[in-house]
Amino acid sequence: MTTTASPPIPVAAGSLPLIGHAIPLLRDNLAFIASVRNRGPLVRIHLQPQQPTIVVNDPALIRTMLVDLAPGLDKGRFFVKMGQVLGGDSVVTAAGSDHVRHRRQLQPAFHRAEIARYVDLMREQVTRTVDGWRPGQVLNVRDVMMDLSLDMLAATVFASSLDERAFQEIRRHLPVVMKGVGARVMLPDWVEKLPLPSNRRFNESRAAVRAIIGEAVEALRTSDRDTGDMLSLLLGARDEETGEPMTGHQICSEILTLAVAGTETTASVLSWLLYEIGRNPEIESRFRAELDEVLQGRPVTFDDVPKLPYTRNVITEALRLHHTGWLVTRRTLTETRIGGWDLPAGTELAYCQHALHRDPELFPDPLRFDPDRWSDDRQSTPLPDGAFLPFGAGKHKCIGDQFALTEMTTALVTIARARRLDVVPGRPVRPVARATVQPGTILMKVRDH
Ligand code: HEM
Repeated sequence: MTTTASPPIPVAAGSLPLIGHAIPLLRDNLAFIASVRNRGPLVRIHLQPQQPTIVVNDPALIRTMLVDLAPGLDKGRFFVKMGQVLGGDSVVTAAGSDHVRHRRQLQPAFHRAEIARYVDLMREQVTRTVDGWRPGQVLNVRDVMMDLSLDMLAATVFASSLDERAFQEIRRHLPVVMKGVGARVMLPDWVEKLPLPSNRRFNESRAAVRAIIGEAVEALRTSDRDTGDMLSLLLGARDEETGEPMTGHQICSEILTLAVAGTETTASVLSWLLYEIGRNPEIESRFRAELDEVLQGRPVTFDDVPKLPYTRNVITEALRLHHTGWLVTRRTLTETRIGGWDLPAGTELAYCQHALHRDPELFPDPLRFDPDRWSDDRQSTPLPDGAFLPFGAGKHKCIGDQFALTEMTTALVTIARARRLDVVPGRPVRPVARATVQPGTILMKVRDH
């Protein structure tokens, strides 16, 4: 690729013909992306042999990409691969005016008043989960949080329109398709076409999950029932220009998008939260002291969320140290200037929140879980723009940010009030990047108070 302006963009070490950077990526993708941070504000990597991806490292330029340049950018490789599962017609894969229309259709489910209404429903789901835990039982925390996140989404945004069978199928197939997307982002496109068992499993799970949601959409459409939830909202939506309703395929894509975007992310961050609280006694006692003082023994409500500043700092710190984003992409539609560089149309861009949030220049002692980084007195010097992007920025900023923060607070507080969880010793937990960054296995033992 040629750029019309200097200086040249350095290439990360380890690229080979035909497979690009597949070897360092397969060996340790997070370490590889972190290693390119100090090579310059922009660095080239090869996910495709012939087409470089420009990794944007500089916080100001990341912000420029997400906010200022957004109108001229498509979503890029990560979202093309996500689109293989979600369909090309969902809010996360769409760009331009299409994206605005999709986003507007989903927005009502994420209004403040709705989120306030969801808290009781979320708490019920958490209580039901925790009631099933027995003292001495060892939990595989990520699996449990994955189920819980899906239950909370099912009870709120999807209310009553998707039945238990649909959610069981989603639960079964989602990990397979997400693992497949993670691999497809990193590997050259030709690998997808090989008759490998992993490709077969991916195709089967994708078909199964879309079929089950498609059936639910058709059942509700023919019943004429208004369940007052996301599915009814989408069935009732009309295209602003044509007046046409959404097709079954579009609705299915949107539902699947929310199930994907709203479960792995929350489940991972919640898992890390339980783990960090469980292994940091001082943090745990300050967190519990705040709950005792503010809640005085009653269940957490929506109005309590802003009254729990230490809890908020603990959650913010988990979103920093354990962010789920590892390769969020964009693609230039026309020649685009970023910083001092002119990039031709069709250039792939990417940034990695996981690496950004662990940059020692931005966050001293970055691997330390330290909620006090976010306390008012330590925040007197604000972070540079673009340094901390838990929910992204610009027009694609997470639509579920307030939902997620409320959900994580409700879940964390409700779990802590009911039980203690001790980390099972001797098993260090490492982050693993697939489609998103997740914790490896976290085992914790249930203890009564
Ligand atoms: C801890 C939890 C979460 C994190 C860290 C997170 C993070 C993000 C980020 C970084 C983006 C921007 C991606 C980009 O720049 O292209 C995003 C977009 C999105 N998120 Fe979340 N998210 C979380 C929870 C949720 C939840 C609970 C939902 C819904 C129930 C959700 C739905 C979405 C959707 C639909 C988009 C696409 C928005 C658009 O392109 O307009 N997310 N999320």
